[in-house]
Amino acid sequence: MAEERTFIAVKPDGVQRGLVADILGRFERKGFKLVGLKLLTPSRSLAEQHYGIHRERPFFPGLVGFITSGPVVAMVWEGAGVIAGARVLIGATKPLEAAPGTIRGDLAMDIGRNVVHGSDGPESARFEIGLWFHPEELSSWEPADQGWRRQA
Ligand code: RTP
Ligand code: MG
Repeated sequence: MAEERTFIAVKPDGVQRGLVADILGRFERKGFKLVGLKLLTPSRSLAEQHYGIHRERPFFPGLVGFITSGPVVAMVWEGAGVIAGARVLIGATKPLEAAPGTIRGDLAMDIGRNVVHGSDGPESARFEIGLWFHPEELSSWEPADQGWRRQA
């Protein structure tokens, strides 16, 4: 399986509730590689582009208002299969239906306060990484214990 990158964000509710370390730690402990990390309060333009696919949905204004309401921790994680794998760690969109052990299953109750975002496929991952990060903000590096994370 080829190496790939995905965009993950701790949403404002996750930051406000002090869940950043827990959420970030789950990706780190899984063995994925952190290649980009910053905290920012998204502009309306950034939020509208990020959730552009939902522009016509009734929840869109509330979603944009929520995601721009405070700081977000924006991240890029790298690894073989990380795009789909991160979605497994995150769990179902509706936290009450998310499996225990997933981030949303363990840490959230409400669809509008589901603490974390993850790209849903290769195309959205590429788009979202380019939207949130400048190329020079991303680091290509090799963990010293890579051979213990993944068979060559
Ligand atoms: P995300 O993009 O934030 O990672 O979430 P997702 O892929 O699991 O879900 P998606 O369908 O992309 O929806 C984006 C976010 O919009 C909010 N939402 N509200 N009220 C509703 O019916 C509704 N549906 C979606 C959720 O906060 C969801 O995470
Ligand atoms: Mg989505």
